[in-house]
Amino acid sequence: MNPIPYGKQSITEDDISSVVEALKSDFLTQGPRISKFEKAFADYIGSQFALAVSNGTAALHLCALALNVDAKTNVITTPITFAASANCIRYCNGTVYFADINHSTYCLDIEKTRELIQSKPKGFFKGIIPVDFAGNPVNMEQYRRLAEENELWIIEDACHAPGGYFTDSKGNHQNCGNGYYADLSIFSFHPVKHIACGEGGMITTNNEALYKKLLLLRTHGITKDAALMQENHGGWYYEMQTLGYNYRLTDFQAALGLSQLKRADDGLARRREIASRYFEAFKNKPYILGQTGVIEGHAYHLYVIRIGERKVLYDYLRGKNIYCQVHYIPVHTLPYYQNLGYNKGDHPVAEDYYKECLSLPMYPGLSNEEQEFVIEEIIKFYQGGIE
Ligand SMILES: Cc1ncc(COP(=O)(O)O)c(C=O)c1O
Repeated sequence: MNPIPYGKQSITEDDISSVVEALKSDFLTQGPRISKFEKAFADYIGSQFALAVSNGTAALHLCALALNVDAKTNVITTPITFAASANCIRYCNGTVYFADINHSTYCLDIEKTRELIQSKPKGFFKGIIPVDFAGNPVNMEQYRRLAEENELWIIEDACHAPGGYFTDSKGNHQNCGNGYYADLSIFSFHPVKHIACGEGGMITTNNEALYKKLLLLRTHGITKDAALMQENHGGWYYEMQTLGYNYRLTDFQAALGLSQLKRADDGLARRREIASRYFEAFKNKPYILGQTGVIEGHAYHLYVIRIGERKVLYDYLRGKNIYCQVHYIPVHTLPYYQNLGYNKGDHPVAEDYYKECLSLPMYPGLSNEEQEFVIEEIIKFYQGGIE
């Protein structure tokens, strides 16, 4: 059996020809494929605007800048996420507050978020960054209500959830990142994600003013748009109007993203099939303390089980060429955040979750045979018979 990772890109001949075609064209960066990819992605997600950037972390950083995060800004996020969801606030010298996760969704708990907001004077917090962790869609309608009551903005970190959706109070499906409830949403196109660009990211929004600000910030704060410029000396002229970055995606990465996007629904369907099989295999096993399960609208970037003896199982599976992963070490317990004064023990649901969680192999190219091997080895580990 070949090594089985927890996540993996799938690259087809069509993907390769699309990239080769881009490489043979006149544009390597910011060519026609960028806007095509942005348009196709916005259509897929159902947002008005989409802005392609160099990775998901850059997307978060630009969102924080566009929302004017600075040293006086306090923002709430979840401890169970990739560090970048919190780091984007630190890039702008803001302060991160963590609220604990919900014990069954493993996402930011809205009631704990509300309690945290109410524990401070009105106006203390400026924003919330909920994360559709593992692909589990956060009910953004509820967060919107909370945000409106407290004058907060929302950045939805939807890196795990392109194609995911929740059902709102009117019975409508709301796609993760569609801009209906969140001010800004972000995605990553890292190879283990649903759509791979190598590195890559996208910001989606329905807010035109924020979109225009992001356009400037993505390219050094520079514009060549005559309508926006204070002066115009000729065809070469540009103005740098704010301090921005170079967070552009290249045209050949966009070519790969565009080609991958065509198969996004197929990939999602396969992820859902894999999730159902894991759920069936583990549903009555006493040593499985929890599992992601079958959830409508879930995008299944990850399939998580909760188990005892996690490290022994993890090492055992590695010995069998099965490379599971742990998502995530609670962000507030990481040395950088510890050095800033965050305390272990402050978010017990997240910390207990971390002791028991394991992400099983989950990617469209995982074969039935490989999945059965993973399941058998886990069952063998707990029911005896380990060589
Ligand atoms: C939840 C979450 N947010 C942000 C990021 C950052 O994305 P990237 O790796 O593209 O910078 C990731 C990806 O690792 C992620 O999983």
